[in-house]
Amino acid sequence: MLTSLSEEAVRPAREDDRKRIAELAYLETHVHNHPGWLSPLDSVGKRGFAVLEENGRIKAALALVPENRHTAWVRLFAVAASLSPQKAWEELWPAAVEQVKEKGVRWIAAMPFENWFNEMISTRGFSPYQQVEMLVWKPQPLPEARKAKGYKMRNITTEDLEAITKIDALAFGEFWHTKKEILAEALKHSVWARVVEDPATKQLLGFQISTPSPLGGHLARIAVHPKAQRRGLGYWLVHDVLTFFSHQNAERVTLNTQGNNAVALGLYKRLGFQPTEEQFQVLVHSLDGSTPPSGDNM
Ligand SMILES: CC(C)(COP(=O)(O)OP(=O)(O)OC[C@H]1O[C@@H](n2cnc3c(N)ncnc32)[C@H](O)[C@@H]1OP(=O)(O)O)[C@@H](O)C(=O)NCCC(=O)NCCS
Repeated sequence: MLTSLSEEAVRPAREDDRKRIAELAYLETHVHNHPGWLSPLDSVGKRGFAVLEENGRIKAALALVPENRHTAWVRLFAVAASLSPQKAWEELWPAAVEQVKEKGVRWIAAMPFENWFNEMISTRGFSPYQQVEMLVWKPQPLPEARKAKGYKMRNITTEDLEAITKIDALAFGEFWHTKKEILAEALKHSVWARVVEDPATKQLLGFQISTPSPLGGHLARIAVHPKAQRRGLGYWLVHDVLTFFSHQNAERVTLNTQGNNAVALGLYKRLGFQPTEEQFQVLVHSLDGSTPPSGDNM
């Protein structure tokens, strides 16, 4: 697929573009860079990553990276100063979308950090979907540990990946499912990652993955199998994370959750997490007219 204008072409990003895309992302002003577990550059060469080339120079890049079967995120949009972001978007969007649509993606999500990007996509079919809030825990005495009787907690191993991916898919709404490869990447970056299992059946019932952060740690993912919820496993997992980071003398532990995830918010607040000023809007562009369920939790 090559849309040819005079000396300008939109084409899929190739391996040998990596350095030039990195330069664009680091040096230019109009850059929306939203890394997930992987850097956007890890998606060079995959479907959904398009570049705009002009006279042999890469002038803009757009990476739509699937996080699960139906949802892809705008992980990178970078534009050279000589080009307007709007023009670059008009050129790159159809090419990148065409590629992810072929893979079954229905929703493109974005979390704008800057006004110019928010304003641009808001007039291009993206609508507010959910608010994501950051919570912080600072050193304080922990409430009582409540070990859930009859269950065992242990470290996650790579052999658990299949099972935790299933729990993730059952516990989270479809929009927020995380595919196995991405959970594997999260696990690689983790400092404390635990599962709860039923020792009699060896069935895994819940997990959490926490990563290091500059001042301590970040609780990146937690889920309990729906049939095992409300038995104290979530509380036990979060308490265990905070115990770990307390022993590490962490100055803070952060996490992100949606503003309307009342169960998770209640659990975190009970364990001493406080809201912060950090709030981000998730916007969604539907490719097939469907909207992700509004009750979906992340
Ligand atoms: C959030 C989650 C991990 C909690 O796990 P859990 O094992 O059910 O939690 P617990 O049994 O320890 O319950 C914790 C508290 O929440 C309350 N709670 C749990 N589920 C509830 C529900 N559906 N409705 C009302 N209260 C609920 C419990 O009563 C308990 O309150 P208490 O401390 O006053 O007794 C689980 O609901 C889940 O996996 N949700 C989907 C994924 C998700 O939202 N993850 C967090 C995203 S940041």
